[in-house]
Amino acid sequence: MKRVTVAALLKNPEIGSETLVRGWVRTFRSNRFIAINDGSTINNIQAVVDFENEDENELKRITTGAAVEVIGELVESQGKGQSVELVVKSFKVIGDADPDEYPLQPKKHSLEFLREIAHLRFRTNTFGAVNRVRHAMIFAVHKFFNDKGFYNIHTPIVTGSDAEGAGEMFRVTTFDLDNAPKNEAGEIDFKEDFFGKETNLTVSGQLEAELAALALGQVYTFGPTFRAENSNTTRHLAEFWMIEPEVAFNDLHDNMDLAEEMLKYCVQYALDHCKEDLAFLSQRVTEEEKSKPQDQRSMELVEKLKFVADNDFVRLTYTDAIDILRNSKPNKKKKFNYLIEGWGADLQSEHERFLVEKHFKKPVILTNYPATIKAFYMRQDDELPEAKPGMEVGPTVSAMDILFPGIGEIVGGSQREERLDVLKQKIADFNIPEEHVWWYLDTRKFGSVPHSGFGLGFERMVLFVTGMTNIRDVIPFPRTPKNAEF
Ligand code: 4AD
Ligand code: MG
Repeated sequence: MKRVTVAALLKNPEIGSETLVRGWVRTFRSNRFIAINDGSTINNIQAVVDFENEDENELKRITTGAAVEVIGELVESQGKGQSVELVVKSFKVIGDADPDEYPLQPKKHSLEFLREIAHLRFRTNTFGAVNRVRHAMIFAVHKFFNDKGFYNIHTPIVTGSDAEGAGEMFRVTTFDLDNAPKNEAGEIDFKEDFFGKETNLTVSGQLEAELAALALGQVYTFGPTFRAENSNTTRHLAEFWMIEPEVAFNDLHDNMDLAEEMLKYCVQYALDHCKEDLAFLSQRVTEEEKSKPQDQRSMELVEKLKFVADNDFVRLTYTDAIDILRNSKPNKKKKFNYLIEGWGADLQSEHERFLVEKHFKKPVILTNYPATIKAFYMRQDDELPEAKPGMEVGPTVSAMDILFPGIGEIVGGSQREERLDVLKQKIADFNIPEEHVWWYLDTRKFGSVPHSGFGLGFERMVLFVTGMTNIRDVIPFPRTPKNAEF
């Protein structure tokens, strides 16, 4: 007999058929009703045991967390809460779970506690739902780009470059830490190391994606990226997954259009394919926010996703954003931790959230940031921005950040500097040795074209779609400062 998944069984119930189900016990009530979950759906199947005709010692082994196999007849359920159930003909415990030791009992556990048992938290409704949605989002990303004729490129994980120039890299070496070879000047001699040079885990696949885009036209990467930034926030991971499309001949506006279309597509994909999990997650958020005052509660999850999928994002320049912020209430009343005094400072998350959640109440795309606060590869704008009264402006770059409600920055991207002379000057200004990026410069020497791309933090998108509030809860095994368990 073949095993049927609970998802398949509930989708196409064949009343009266003999059915084999395998899964894990969620609860066992009244020595009679086993709720079995096999991960294929948020829903359990209820198996009804005729306990008077079963071996008592075997029944005792049916405990929360145990793995079981059940063969039974599928019938319409008498009870409420489920449409069909299995009348058990035979059952077998495949793997016991000692109730005195099994940490996941059928009660509400805090997300903090569940992080400590991340190896088992897949077995909860919340993490089952989050991981099924996460999978659907991975699939949606690939489908979106494939349908548009993009090619997926695997960029290297070990690199010698710092694409973002922020110096937040994890070193890769085979040296013995206590006994690394030194050169005559007494410095560690990386020529002796495995790759013959200093290497690190990649912070971004962008630079290599650009090389591919300048031949294949439209490409995207979807890979792990690593940042050794000591940010212990609900939005930062040391290891996260990033989607980075790169398109030849696209300018900043094409880039914004692509990013907005992609985000909407993925959100719509979740709405279409994850209905039951989203309904569960929505209930979870509502429950969680019950203790909050009305005006601090978020929009109902499915409503929020529909809103984002159906409405245009706001687009405005950094300069206009600064103008809004410096005249805003929290700035005038000195409520911001970082007050906006003039043009040029980087925006903090409090400013981003004000723009998105209070001022526009919509996703916002900010463009044309000051050149000094953005990476070396961004295209220098041809003209200075128009200054507002009392504002001193400087050169800007064709950058774009997409800010989402409850998340802050979800996408960072730009048009790339395609002019060799300008790029060389930028590299010099940023103290990047030319011999480190000779291959990158070559693409500007041979058949250079305007091109653009962006990076979408995959976990931030999953955070938004699931309504979860801590990024550690939307990746199976989070890597954060002082934490690499499992
Ligand atoms: O803005 P970032 O640093 O941009 C880049 O890496 C560019 N090379 C992308 C490109 O143009 N191809 O990162 C892009 C996105 C951010 O907007 C954010 O969503 C996410 O990656 N991100 C993080 N997500 C989780 N944890 C972190 N520590 C993150 N740092 C960035
Ligand atoms: Mg950024």
